[in-house]
Amino acid sequence: MAAHRAAHQVLEQGCIFTDPLALRILGRAAGTAVREAEENPSQRKMRLFVAVRSRFAEDALAAAVERGVRQIVVLGAGLDTFAYRSPLRDLVPTFEIDHTATQAWKLQLLREADIPIPNSLTFAPIDFEHQTLPEGLAAAGFDRSRQTFFTWLGVVPYLTEEAVWSTLSFIASLPNGAHVVFDYSNPPASLPSKMRILHEERAKRVADLGEAWLTHFEADTLRAKLLALGFSEIEDLGPSQIAARYFPHSASKLPDKGGHILRATTVSGAHHRAAIASEPSPQSNSPNGERP
Ligand SMILES: C[S@@+](CC[C@H](N)C(=O)[O-])C[C@H]1O[C@@H](n2cnc3c(N)ncnc32)[C@H](O)[C@@H]1O
Repeated sequence: MAAHRAAHQVLEQGCIFTDPLALRILGRAAGTAVREAEENPSQRKMRLFVAVRSRFAEDALAAAVERGVRQIVVLGAGLDTFAYRSPLRDLVPTFEIDHTATQAWKLQLLREADIPIPNSLTFAPIDFEHQTLPEGLAAAGFDRSRQTFFTWLGVVPYLTEEAVWSTLSFIASLPNGAHVVFDYSNPPASLPSKMRILHEERAKRVADLGEAWLTHFEADTLRAKLLALGFSEIEDLGPSQIAARYFPHSASKLPDKGGHILRATTVSGAHHRAAIASEPSPQSNSPNGERP
């Protein structure tokens, strides 16, 4: 995914998603990532989807901060660079969740690239399948009372449905509201035949690497379950809505089924008013440099 973001900076000049650290974090591997992307035009679609989902998530986060978000959790962070280049770094407590080994590898890459780790960032090694997110986050210093934004990109398909719903239930249970952005795919059987064949080829490749895709959703079923958990303002973009929003001049017609990016919130007007009344905005310059 990091290779896609790096290649997007060069091959599409970051036109959907600008990430000034995307090449740097990969170090020497960045050149190879760009070269391989150039040599394999079939990767373009996935690369653009990866760029779109990061752009969608970071736009949603910026809007949510205006509504009172005072804590951020990056679930399955991988080599995501948001925490290191965000204007909120050093201001808003941020947690990166991933496997211990992945976090150790990322720390090494950050060190090699001379990318500083913000004071407000905590690495929380948690395996969603084998540990509960509430316990892992609590051990890392997560504050349940803060309105929190969860970004969860490129992870849901790899988890069991049980782990997905357990995480979403926890997010929905936070007392002062939360926001979540995640991506998912429709079930292969619902895809048009050409897409289904491509999907099955890719699914086999990732399964051979030991990271099988386990969970897919139909948009209507997912929406109904999210509403039942207490989420609202569900914005779910499938391929054709993504194309209309991010590639309005593209001539190619996209199907309704495939990869989706979704945001939802439990923040009501009341949460919003309470948060604004009780806390300073992280974007205002606090004279004594305190964290909000
Ligand atoms: C496809 S990568 C996406 C990384 C990042 N979010 C991005 O968009 O670049 C999936 C990430 O989820 C993490 N992950 C997958 N299953 C996990 C689990 N059960 N517990 C914790 N992290 C997990 C992987 O280690 C990996 O970093």
